Amino acid sequence: MPIPVREQISTIDPSYCIEVTDDGSRTLLRDGNRFHSGCGAIAECDWVYLRGVGMNDETYEDWPRSILEVGFGTGMAMLRTIDRALSAGQPIEYVALENSPISAQILEELKLDRDLQRPELVPWFLERWDHCLRSTTLTPELSLAWDAQTKVSVIFTDAVAWLTNQKPGSERKFDAVYFDPFDPVINPELWQTEVLQGLWRRINLGGRLVTYCVQGEVRRSLQRAGFETHRVPGPPFGKRQVLIATKLAAEDPVPSDDQNSSG
Ligand SMILES: C[S@@+](CC[C@H](N)C(=O)[O-])C[C@H]1O[C@@H](n2cnc3c(N)ncnc32)[C@H](O)[C@@H]1O
Repeated sequence: MPIPVREQISTIDPSYCIEVTDDGSRTLLRDGNRFHSGCGAIAECDWVYLRGVGMNDETYEDWPRSILEVGFGTGMAMLRTIDRALSAGQPIEYVALENSPISAQILEELKLDRDLQRPELVPWFLERWDHCLRSTTLTPELSLAWDAQTKVSVIFTDAVAWLTNQKPGSERKFDAVYFDPFDPVINPELWQTEVLQGLWRRINLGGRLVTYCVQGEVRRSLQRAGFETHRVPGPPFGKRQVLIATKLAAEDPVPSDDQNSSG
């Protein structure tokens, strides 16, 4: 199928450009690298990430209470996740890693309140984000609380260092991971087995890592890191398949190069 011509809008920063994706929601391109699928930014967020970690389950039994996002980007996944948790009355603690935060002025142009139950989340977040990025003192982290059971932290750091440097056993653990760096060609350092092992250690037993990338080499690296991988159908009109990787064993896996792909 031919790739549709999508509307692009310039921003105040020439390295960033807005693209209107096929579901009408907007994403960003930085130096040509797309932050979400052109087939639908919201569709990708809701399907790959929220649904991937179980946030479509109406019994709420398997909902994650804590999520780690690798690659905060526009904040779209965070806003949609806390909007969903608030609507469901479920607690959520959301921690994201980002090394190149984007100005609030650019994020404002993305109209991130589209389809949110609580559009007021967007000005709430952008006001604090803007204040933090403009602050003259270097803050390593922005921590926000919408209410007592809805918390967000964005850690301004290199995710590779954050995920590989800590002493094994000392890491804080999460119920789920949104693994959303750029693809392995643009961001190869983040898809290495060592980084994926760092993520494995940070996930609670039974927890999931979800990502849009199903490449064989990525699946094998996830398996070497200890995950069981499954390819599942992708969003309607989007990628054919996306990936769910589950931590099923508590023991650190013995590294092995010859494991077969099961996902
Ligand atoms: C595909 S975008 C993430 C989109 C995001 N999930 C959203 O909802 O907008 C990838 C993000 O990963 C960030 N990133 C890339 N390499 C990184 C690194 N080494 N450490 C931290 N963040 C990184 C990029 O700056 C970019 O914001």
